[in-house]
Amino acid sequence: MCHLAGFQPGQQVLDVGCGVATTAVEISRRFGCHVTAIDIDPLMLGRATANVQAAGAANVTVAKADVQALEFPDAAFDRVVIEAVTMFVDRRRAAQEIVRVCRPGGRVLDHEFIYRRPPTTEIRRIFEGEVCPGISFDTADDWMLLYQHAGLTGIQHTTGPFAMMTPLGMVRDEGVGNLLAMLARVAWRRAYRRKMAWLMSRMLRVMPYLGYIVLAGTKPTAQSSRAA
Ligand SMILES: C[S@@+](CC[C@H](N)C(=O)[O-])C[C@H]1O[C@@H](n2cnc3c(N)ncnc32)[C@H](O)[C@@H]1O
Repeated sequence: MCHLAGFQPGQQVLDVGCGVATTAVEISRRFGCHVTAIDIDPLMLGRATANVQAAGAANVTVAKADVQALEFPDAAFDRVVIEAVTMFVDRRRAAQEIVRVCRPGGRVLDHEFIYRRPPTTEIRRIFEGEVCPGISFDTADDWMLLYQHAGLTGIQHTTGPFAMMTPLGMVRDEGVGNLLAMLARVAWRRAYRRKMAWLMSRMLRVMPYLGYIVLAGTKPTAQSSRAA
């Protein structure tokens, strides 16, 4: 995602649905950007604020906002980043809002789930009905079309398998220390052990169908629109 984003020092970046602000801190630290990290959930906002403070990331501001009705003016950001959020909300509304707050010539980056092969009805029921109720996504082509309709041009994308819940994926995502701490917490309580067994039995069935897409597109300038 960072490669496709072309981050530069001093850019204004919006991280939508920032969660605990891991990506926001990383972008500020690695690229010297000013990051506005927004989320709708008070619990996430609390953790994001604590993480930003712990990291000493003075260039990251955490704020409450709903991606479906952003209170930022048009063209306020050079880059808008959204990871694992669009599939939980009204996709069209979210894409319109994200593109609206990006400046002409700026870039939008979205990182979401895809089905890499057509899911059976049973697989959809397990994942969209039981594991992640309310989630909605289809193929890489659907994500591309969504952002084309929202007005982005020059859309590039990369896709890959869903590796987050494989042993290697977890180590890469969390690091060995965090993973061991997480496993120890799960082992500690019977309710957590049962929940993990419930989740993993379903994820093992769903994972072969799942993948990710990282998509990047540019908001056209008046000049580039006229030329097209
Ligand atoms: C799966 S988490 C992803 C968090 C983070 N982007 C990451 O990749 O680690 C989804 C996040 O989207 C947030 N979210 C859900 N609906 C939202 C909305 N309408 N506006 C803003 N954030 C939202 C949730 O609170 C949660 O933090």
